[in-house]
Amino acid sequence: MLRVVRTPRHSLRPPPFAVLSTTAIPARSERGVAAFKGLSLAQQRRLRQLEQAFSAPFTVVEVDLPGSRDSARPAVRLIKPAKGATIELNRLEAGLAAAAIAEGVWVDDSRAPLLQAVAPLGAADELNEPEPENAPRRMAIGELRPVNGASTWSADSASRMLASVVQNDTLQRRLDGQRRQLADVSGHLLSTFEELSLLQRLAERLRLASDAAELARQTLVWLRDVVPAECLVFSPCEDWSEVTESSQSRMTVGRRPLEGDDLGRLMDWITERAPRKVLVATRPQDELPPWAASKISDLVAAPIMAADRPIAWLVALNHRERFGKHDSEEFFGQVEASLLSSVAAILGVHAGNQRLYGEKSDLFESSIRAMSSAIDAKDPYTRGHSERVARISVCLGRRLGCSQPEINRLYLGGLLHDVGKIGIQDRVLGKAGALTDEEYEHIKSHPLQGERILRGYHALEPVLSIVRNHHESWDGSGYPDGLKGEACPRLARIAAVADGIDAMSSDRVYRPGMPVGEVEKILRDGAGRQWDPEVIAAYFEVRDEVWRVIDEYDSEQPAPQIDFSCLDEPTR
Ligand SMILES: [Fe+2]
Ligand SMILES: [Fe+2]
Repeated sequence: MLRVVRTPRHSLRPPPFAVLSTTAIPARSERGVAAFKGLSLAQQRRLRQLEQAFSAPFTVVEVDLPGSRDSARPAVRLIKPAKGATIELNRLEAGLAAAAIAEGVWVDDSRAPLLQAVAPLGAADELNEPEPENAPRRMAIGELRPVNGASTWSADSASRMLASVVQNDTLQRRLDGQRRQLADVSGHLLSTFEELSLLQRLAERLRLASDAAELARQTLVWLRDVVPAECLVFSPCEDWSEVTESSQSRMTVGRRPLEGDDLGRLMDWITERAPRKVLVATRPQDELPPWAASKISDLVAAPIMAADRPIAWLVALNHRERFGKHDSEEFFGQVEASLLSSVAAILGVHAGNQRLYGEKSDLFESSIRAMSSAIDAKDPYTRGHSERVARISVCLGRRLGCSQPEINRLYLGGLLHDVGKIGIQDRVLGKAGALTDEEYEHIKSHPLQGERILRGYHALEPVLSIVRNHHESWDGSGYPDGLKGEACPRLARIAAVADGIDAMSSDRVYRPGMPVGEVEKILRDGAGRQWDPEVIAAYFEVRDEVWRVIDEYDSEQPAPQIDFSCLDEPTR
């Protein structure tokens, strides 16, 4: 009976070995070629197969059993145990025992002449020597004793049996190898997935309107899930605010190994050491500054570049597994450097884009203001009309529950709604007396002319409907398209009311501005005929605010900044 006392049975994985011969092999056979002496061709072939299977040379070894050498009876005997003793098996013996366990039989014959086995080169020396402590297949078997009536293996049976054990061992090794590879690949995939997922989240947040400092803060939080660092630092340089128009302060997540001044000194050291490159430094190889070496075990730092100069740094300090453990093999390397570098590159490109976007927005706003001024210059009697229509439209739009992008479109559309008047002849526009039919038709062309002027600005598409349709009437009698009711875009219906209010309240070349009461009477009468009744109702709810806009308008006051984010929204 065999009893495994230390190693669980499922982990029994015999080493390579086989019993090859039933005939006497020259005693104390030597290693290598000499081992082939006395073996049949078939045995030699099997030996080579074994060598091939294990990529190792084999040698023939014997274990002397007293009184057995001259016996003609072939048998396999693992060991001659003292009854009830617990003995330590070397690898060869353990393998044989495992084979026996696998077969459920035990072989013992005190008359057995010889144990002839083939074991890996070197194993012969180990037969009588204790194995190293970390030998993986060492096990102890206690109470070895013959089982009554157990069959004795012939050498041939044992050879086949052990060959199958060897084959099983080979498969097991391959399986173990594949399991390890699978675990490696899984780990790699998981880490790659986490990195990709971080980059994806970052890309999703890269709307131009995003605040760069907030984006950097969020990035640090995400990086913490992926980079095994004690502390992650975002450290802006002097140019950060200039490029991003965002606040400039150092941010950290995790436990800070260095405080205030020392962290600043470390950043100076990094910048000096690698002004524009990713830096990976590990104590002690990379001579971290002496004053930081006691608190920093390793670091990786990546510059965020914009316009070819660093505007900030992303830094990971102290590998979590390494910090405080001098013998740890964990340290920052290519993986962290590559990830931080990718993230820094994205933030750098984003910062550069933000700057370009800001410049473009400034230029665009200047163009809009220039066009608005051109309209006023064309018709001095309507000075400020565009700005007031824009502001009144916003009042009405807010009351009507428009979204912020719609409010932005209302403001921009209000500023530009009469841009087509640039194409109207001065003598018609400034005519004091009644207009002829032809002149009136000419003036009525301004919405279409305005649309034509702005159509060249692809970005202004969202406000074209306001420009084109701000003279439509609720009953369909307006121009240029004669749109009736809700067929006319809602923002144009709002702008139409704002336009009417400001036009009626302003002095014109042909009449003075109307008082509030008269304007409101016309609005009431026109609700459901000229104007959308819902918009007129909204006016009466915010009338004080509207008249404040009209009364307090001062062309010398700076106009509110235009929010162009509405132009990124889909057109409605
Ligand atoms: Fe107009
Ligand atoms: Fe107008």
